[in-house]
Amino acid sequence: MGLVAGKVALVTGAAAGIGRASALAFAREGARVVVVDDDTEGGGKTVAMIEETGGSAVFVECDVSDAADVEAAMDKTVSAFGRLDCAHNNAGVEGPMALTAEYEEDEWDRLIDVNLKGTWLCMKHEIPRMLFRGGGAIVNTASFAGVVGVEGLPSYSASKFGVNGITKVTALEYASMGIRVNSVCPGPIQTSMIDRLLETNPAAVAELLASAPMGRLGRPEEIAEAAVWLCSDRASFVNGHAMVVDGAFTAR
Ligand SMILES: NC(=O)c1ccc[n+]([C@@H]2O[C@H](COP(=O)([O-])OP(=O)(O)OC[C@H]3O[C@@H](n4cnc5c(N)ncnc54)[C@H](O)[C@@H]3O)[C@@H](O)[C@H]2O)c1
Repeated sequence: MGLVAGKVALVTGAAAGIGRASALAFAREGARVVVVDDDTEGGGKTVAMIEETGGSAVFVECDVSDAADVEAAMDKTVSAFGRLDCAHNNAGVEGPMALTAEYEEDEWDRLIDVNLKGTWLCMKHEIPRMLFRGGGAIVNTASFAGVVGVEGLPSYSASKFGVNGITKVTALEYASMGIRVNSVCPGPIQTSMIDRLLETNPAAVAELLASAPMGRLGRPEEIAEAAVWLCSDRASFVNGHAMVVDGAFTAR
C-alpha cells in the first residue's frame, strides 16, 4: 500500500524540478495526480512519465498568480478525479540578484505575485474542495530563504517568509476542520532554477556549493519525499510546521 493510496493529489509547478519529482512520488505512492503548471510541454511530459509507470495523471494549464486560472484548475481537478485530498503548492520563480535598494519594482511584484499570492490563491480554492470531502493535507514550498535572510534576494526571501507565515495561519484556522497545512523549506536543489543562477551568477552557485555542509546540492526527489510524507496520514499530527530539508545548510 502506498503512502497516499487512493488519494487525489494536485502539484503546482509540476512541469519541472521539485514539482515534477513530487508529482512522480505522489503517483508512485498511489495517488492520482493533477499536474498544474503554465508550461504545457513540460506538464505533458510529467503526465507521460507518470503514465509510463502505470500511474494516473492529468495536466491542467494554469498561472498560479491568476485567480480565475487557479479556480478553474481546482474545478478541473474535481471534474477529472471527483475530489481533492492533497495539494503541494510548489510553483515558484526566482528573480535577479540585487541589493534591496537597487531592486526593480516589477521584479519585486512578479516574485510576490507568483510565490506568495499564488500560494494563497491555491489554498483559497483548495480548502473548500477539501472541506467538502471532510479534510485534506496541504504542503507549500517555501525555501531556506524563508528561514534565514539571503543577501541579494529581498523579494524572494520576503515571498518565502510569507509562505511560511501563511502556512502557520492557515494551519491554525483549519486544524479543527480536518485540514493540515505544512511547508517544506528546501536548501539549494539541483534544478533549472539553479542552472539559471549558474548562467547569470556563477559565483553565487560556487558559494552555495562551498558552504554546503554535505558538499553537494540537494536532489528534487529529496524534497518530494518530504512533501508526500507531510501529506500522508503518517504525518497526522504534523501541522503548521516549516520542515527544513537542506542538508544542514541553515544549521549553523
Ligand atoms: N531549486 C532550489 O534551489 C530551490 C530552493 C528552495 C526553494 N525552491 C522552490 O521550489 C519550488 C520549485 O522550484 P524548482 O527549483 O523546481 O524550479 P524550476 O524552475 O525547475 O520549476 C518551477 C516550475 O514552476 C512553474 N511555474 C513558474 N511560474 C509559474 C506560474 N506562475 N504558474 C504555474 N507554474 C509556474 C515553472 O513552469 C516550472 O515548471 C519553487 O517554489 C522554488 O522557489 C527551490
